[in-house]
Parts: sequence; structure tokens; C-alpha cells
Amino acid sequence: MKVDVLLGLQWGDEGKGKIVDVLTPNYDIIARFQGGPNAGHTLEFNGIKHVLHTIPSGIFREGVLNLIGNGVVIDPVIFKAELAKLAPYNIDIKSRLIISKKAHLILPTHRLLDAASEAAKGKDKIGSTLKGIGPTYMDKTGRNGLRVGDIFSLNFETKYNALVNKHKDILNHYADFEYDLTELEGPWLQAIDELRELTAVDSEQYLNDAMKAGKKVLAEGAQGTMLDIDFGTYPFVTSSNTVTAGTCTGLGIAPTKIGEVIGIFKAYCTRVGSGPFPTELDNEVGERIRTEGFEFGATTGRPRRCGWVDIPQLKYAIMINGVTELSMMKSDVLDKFDTIKACTHYIIDGERYDYFPYDVNDVEVIPVYEDIKGWNCDTTKLSSYDDAPKELKDYVEYLEQKLEVPITVVSVGPDRTQTLSNKKVLA
Ligand code: GDP
Ligand code: IMO
Ligand code: MG
Repeated sequence: MKVDVLLGLQWGDEGKGKIVDVLTPNYDIIARFQGGPNAGHTLEFNGIKHVLHTIPSGIFREGVLNLIGNGVVIDPVIFKAELAKLAPYNIDIKSRLIISKKAHLILPTHRLLDAASEAAKGKDKIGSTLKGIGPTYMDKTGRNGLRVGDIFSLNFETKYNALVNKHKDILNHYADFEYDLTELEGPWLQAIDELRELTAVDSEQYLNDAMKAGKKVLAEGAQGTMLDIDFGTYPFVTSSNTVTAGTCTGLGIAPTKIGEVIGIFKAYCTRVGSGPFPTELDNEVGERIRTEGFEFGATTGRPRRCGWVDIPQLKYAIMINGVTELSMMKSDVLDKFDTIKACTHYIIDGERYDYFPYDVNDVEVIPVYEDIKGWNCDTTKLSSYDDAPKELKDYVEYLEQKLEVPITVVSVGPDRTQTLSNKKVLA
């Protein structure tokens, strides 16, 4: 069996959690391959609204195994809190969740380093979620990191102290940065004890054996393509590969084993944190999208920057990821708009660009738009794509034609049930 992949095509928060939850009944295993608690994936069903950070979004479905891959970074304290929030649902976590021994640990000092680095950058800050993501991946590539497998080793404490001492040396270079490590260390060490109770495995072996045995796997991305460390709007990105290639390195899956790649995007566009965003609407239209779409971060609560859909940007993301089908999210947020706009190309320095160029950070990027007629009606109660208003179908067809990939799912509300199958891909 091949692994299907679901990932974000914009700057994150596209609605990945919702669609993974919707698709989970079609799979045996849901596997996260990168990122960490910087992610906030929202699920809504049966009147419940739940945000997951590190745990894959298949956790609520019986009979499905959730796997945290080697490419993920785990903060034991946040992870423990996540497990506590799941307690009321009586989920047998031990049998439904397994963790790679190779996943890296976020230490309290990684969070401090993140905060110190951002503070030192001042107005040039990345706008990090301050969860310690950057410093943890730096230690991974710098070959200093601590991994989940290490917590079972007898010299774990020695390894931990060695790394913390290294971090303290670095923190000393931030003259104005004050911190109290003891306050953070106690809960972290307690949370490590809880982590020891869970099932840690050689997840690459586990996954490949499961695939050989015919199990169906869905890889769940975090963040979005434009936050990818290589292909995003660097340096305003996260520190992992958020693209399809990240599935191979973050789970131990060979490239030849990748099946469908489901790219998900909002019917408009958002970004949280700093960095370029060509179609951003810093005006009352953007404000209206934010209000209608309740665009506030699921992890940090920060207001998200809003703008129109950006076709060159989406085409770029589709190219990098090899997207085979698309899910369009939150089209209901545009229910009351007379006119919707889609950016078809950019003008930079008087020149036309039909693709996403290298330098969008320090130049003025002028987006050129095409107008699309809005549908001006409530779509949140639709139960079939066939009944969708003509203008919504026209918008879907317009984007399909521009993007050259079928839009198989249209999402018209946050709930599991508010999901329309175009081309009959959902059961
Ligand atoms: P993720 O990080 O990609 O999983 O997305 P987030 O959970 O951070 O943000 C998506 C937000 O939009 C959440 O609050 C979802 O409940 C909500 N959402 C998802 N799909 C839809 C939709 O089709 N319509 C509306 N109105 N909200 C949606
Ligand atoms: P999900 O999975 C939206 C953004 C941060 C910041 C940049 C770097 O919910 O879509 P980091 O904490 O990784 O050092 O932050 O990336 N960012 C996200 N934006 N959704 C996310 O995850 C994000 N994870 C990180 O706002 O701009
Ligand atoms: Mg999110």
C-alpha cells in the first residue's frame, strides 16, 4: 500500500485537522511527519470543538492508529496537557497512539532560546509561536538533540544536563534576557515520566511493515508549504520541511511509496506571524474576512492576516508537492461577498510574474486580480455539492482550470458534516 499525504498549500491553518478527521475512516494509520506544538489543528464534531497540537487528528476515531513520526518535535509538557484534555473522551491512548523513538524533544531551554532570539530580532522577528521549534531543529541538525528513545536510557540525565549547559552558555550571550529555568524544569521532568508510559517504537519499521500488510496510511502535514524551511518565504518560515518530501524523511517512507497528495487551501488566504504575503488586505475587506472566518490562531490566539486567494502561490505549492487533488476550505466565509477576487499574477518593478519569485521580502509585489461573482447565500447547510449555488461551482471550476488539479472536497463549515464531496471522493 502507498501512503496518501494531506498538507497545507498556503501559510498554515488551512483546515488540515478538520479534513484529516473527515478522511480518517478511510485509513488504518494517521501519521504526523513534521512540526510540533507550533501546530494547532481544530476538529469539530457532535458539538465538540477540540484543538490538537502534537497528536494526529485521527485520535477520535476508533480502530485507527495514530503515529508521531521521527520528523516531529515534542514538548513533553504540552504533550501531557494534550493528553489530559483528551481524558474525558475515554480514549485508550496506549493502544491508539505510538511515538517514534527518533522524534526530538523540545527542552525548556529550547523555548527560552526561541524567546531570546525573537526578542533580539526586534521588528525583524519571525513571529514564531515561541514553542522552541527553531532551536530544537537546530540541535537536531547540529547533532546535539535529545530524542524520545533517550528517555529510556540510563544516562538520560547526563545527556539532558550537557545540552542544558550548552543552552545556558548561549543564553548568556543575550544580555537583556532574564529567565528562571527551575520553574520550567520540574514540570518538564514530570512530563518525561508520563511520556515513558507511552508506546515508543521504531516507527519507520512499524509503518513499512504495516504498509506491507496492506494497512492504509494517511500522512498529516503541519504548517503549510509557504512556511517550509526550503521553499517557504525564508527566513519567515518554520524550521522543518512541510512539503511532501517531508513525509519521506519525517516517517521513513520511500518516495516511490507516496500515493495521493491532497493539497488543502482556503477559498481566500491567511498568514499569522511576520513575512511577505502578496495578496494581504490590510483594509476593511481583510477585516471582514477575519471576522466572518474567525481568523485567530488556534495555538497563539493571534489575529491572522487575511487576503485573497493567490493563484501563482498555489501553483507553486502544487508543483513542489505533486498535488493530485485539492480540498477547498472555508468557502462559506465568502457567503456574503458580492465579489471575490483571485490574484492571477504579480507586477514587480514593472515586470509581470506568473510564478512565485525568489525575492518577495524586500520588494513591492503588486497583485493583479480577476473578479469573480459571489454567490451571496448561506452554504453552511448544504448537504450535497450538487445543490451548491452556480456561482460557487463557477469559482471551483475557475480555480480547477487555473490550477490544473481537481478540487474534490469543498468545506462549508467547521463541522465534520459540513463537507461536500465534489467528484464523489467521500463516502
Ligand atoms: P489547521 O491548522 O490547518 O488544522 O487549521 P486550524 O484549525 O488552525 O484553523 C482552521 C479553522 O477554521 C478552525 O477554527 C476550523 O474549525 C475552521 N474551519 C475548518 N474548515 C472550515 C470551513 O469550511 N468553514 C469555516 N467557517 N471554518 C472552518
Ligand atoms: P498549523 O499546523 C500557521 C508560523 C508562525 C511563524 C512561523 C515560525 O496549525 O497550520 P515557529 O513557531 O514554527 O518557529 O513559527 O510559522 N507557524 C504557523 N502558522 N499555522 C501553523 O501550524 C504554524 N506553525 C508555525 O506563526 O510565522
Ligand atoms: Mg492551525
